[in-house]
Amino acid sequence: MNSAPRPKSSATTRHVVSINNLSNREVETIFSVAQSFLDRLPDKSRSYRIGRSTSIASNAILASLFYEPSTRTRLSFESAMLRLGGDIITSADPATSSAAKGESLADSVRVIANYADIMVIRHPRDGAARLAAEYSPIPVINGGDGSHEHPTQTLCDIFTLKKKNKELKNLKVAISGDLKGSRTIHSFVYALARFGARIVPMPAPGMELPDHVHRRLQQEFRCKFDSGDGSIAALYHTPDEPHQPALFPGPDFEFSIKSYNSASEKVRKQKIAAVYVTRFQKERWTEKQQGYPRIDAKFLKDPKYSRASVLHPLPRVGELDASLDTDSRATYFEQAAYGVPIRMALISLLLGLEPGKTLATYEGGFNRSKFLLYDQPLPSGIRCGNHNCIVHEEKEAPYVRNKFYLMREEESAGGRLRCVYCESEMDQFVIANRKSKWYSTSTGDLAYVTQQNLKDYIVFAQEGDAIRNGYHSRRYGGSKRPRMAVGRS
Ligand code: NCD
Repeated sequence: MNSAPRPKSSATTRHVVSINNLSNREVETIFSVAQSFLDRLPDKSRSYRIGRSTSIASNAILASLFYEPSTRTRLSFESAMLRLGGDIITSADPATSSAAKGESLADSVRVIANYADIMVIRHPRDGAARLAAEYSPIPVINGGDGSHEHPTQTLCDIFTLKKKNKELKNLKVAISGDLKGSRTIHSFVYALARFGARIVPMPAPGMELPDHVHRRLQQEFRCKFDSGDGSIAALYHTPDEPHQPALFPGPDFEFSIKSYNSASEKVRKQKIAAVYVTRFQKERWTEKQQGYPRIDAKFLKDPKYSRASVLHPLPRVGELDASLDTDSRATYFEQAAYGVPIRMALISLLLGLEPGKTLATYEGGFNRSKFLLYDQPLPSGIRCGNHNCIVHEEKEAPYVRNKFYLMREEESAGGRLRCVYCESEMDQFVIANRKSKWYSTSTGDLAYVTQQNLKDYIVFAQEGDAIRNGYHSRRYGGSKRPRMAVGRS
């Protein structure tokens, strides 16, 4: 199983798998390029619509590789490429592509990369876009992977918010519906946090933000949950106090931490600037939905929503009343229209179509993480605990590995594993040392692992697995654990 052909992706090829692959400054650049397309190629009667085309991408081809239904994402990517003067090739029906014959994603990507210059992929499995990026020598854009992320939707969402509000800092944004299953929400909350907005979760029962997303907001993006007004409050902003909480060292997230005070009366009374509505992601749940929130005129009567833009990534299926379409707060069709200029900007920046404008390149490679990377061939040791993760797709078995970032927590002396593909986390596992043959169920023992001795360690899901593989329980014998070493992969 260790014979997987090595990925061809170069360390500096920029892929957009997560919204966190883009720095705040790069997001701003995408917005300014998108705006310049709206200005240069206008539809005179609708300011949010691209009305004409250019030819700057006349030598380029975009491949859209969609394994899941899509209207907006695929068609707006394709429209964006055509508006840029480029060409498109599409595989949008898994039933008529080689996927139906059992071809792996890793193979499809390596083949299609010879036919196009940039690729957008949608897939039902979490982490599929990361796998595609590993095997692709051309930029891969995530058009939605399972319930993981949908970064380009977030670019449209944040662009829309910026059009309606002077700035995002301290803006109060309510997010409603299936916060667990909606990939749009996961990318969106990271971006909101990074731009300093306040997030007000309004989940359907049992559909709260996933634990790992919530924890990441708190630990990596320094958000605080405010019991005063129920919001997840933001952080940061003084440019003179830079803070780098990010997984990737390259993009400068331009964070800083400001001391956080629980919600003041003023903040509590602050009006909601936007309500972001999502549908029940029925394809990602086995249970039926119950008590799903419905946003309609009655709901929006509350004075706190009097100026709230209503956003929705669409499609809607009953959670957003059609009678709101004529309400001046309804912004969802405009939001969908921005899909074209935003994706034109992203394609143009990734391909370097406009002189002097590209996304940054980073020394040592964009994906170099600040966390240690545990990387083992598939049959050995622990596998990602998220059963919808791409590592559990049988067809991909020869091409994926058990890959986790080792997240060590100094304060609690605990530790977690973050799957490199789907970014879900595990906080129960067994660490074993191949040389001394001990194992430990204490996740804090990740502290022993350093860049130098990483290959001596193997992680199991359960004690029984360690025992079966010939390891014995560690006895501490009074010796102190080493201090955490900070290493790089
Ligand atoms: C979203 C998606 O596919 O995640 N749609 C879209 O791309 N605009 C939202 C959804 O399907 O609910």
